[in-house]
Amino acid sequence: MIMAERAVPSRVVAAERVASEAGFTKSCAPEVGRLLKLAAASKPHGVVAESGTGSGIGTAWLHSGLGGDARLMTVERDEELARRAAEVFADDDRVSVLTGDWRLLEQHAPFDVFFCDGGGKRDDPEKVVELLAPGGLLLLDDFTPSPHWPPRFGGEVDELRLFYLSHPALDATEVLTTPTSSAIVAARRL
Ligand SMILES: C[S@@+](CC[C@H](N)C(=O)[O-])C[C@H]1O[C@@H](n2cnc3c(N)ncnc32)[C@H](O)[C@@H]1O
Repeated sequence: MIMAERAVPSRVVAAERVASEAGFTKSCAPEVGRLLKLAAASKPHGVVAESGTGSGIGTAWLHSGLGGDARLMTVERDEELARRAAEVFADDDRVSVLTGDWRLLEQHAPFDVFFCDGGGKRDDPEKVVELLAPGGLLLLDDFTPSPHWPPRFGGEVDELRLFYLSHPALDATEVLTTPTSSAIVAARRL
């Protein structure tokens, strides 16, 4: 039986082309992309942020759920990647692609949706939580599913995952995105 493929937004396709031309291989999977779209769509007037633009694939998924009144800020420290990704969104003034360290995002906080994917996630997790608006959604991908509590990775307790999953200001859970990878989805308490 031939399975019909699910539609992929045209800007995701454009950002995939950028990734391929640039030899960039760290983009999010479509399963994560659909979660990003859903999160952005849940905050139609919100400020949506992403750290680590890469070639713009995650940005394009966020964009596909972006409300008419919403704004999307993304930051990438690799100048060439940021320049190429910015071209994908050049015709939409709701989107800003910043070039530099992820801390540039701070001036645009608080965030209603934050896909923290390059900078912040590991080096300053407390700041990541601080940048969320009350009710704001945090998404973190690229974890390896763990059947244990506390979660383990490589035989050790995964302290970073534990930090987010048990943070007192967050309601957080881990969801399977593929059979071999998971994401954390969290909402900041009011
Ligand atoms: C996993 S990739 C991002 C993939 C992209 N979010 C997506 O979903 O397609 C991580 C990116 O973060 C960038 N990065 C890493 N540390 C950073 C920092 N401190 N500030 C800004 N960008 C950073 C890297 O250059 C890389 O392009």
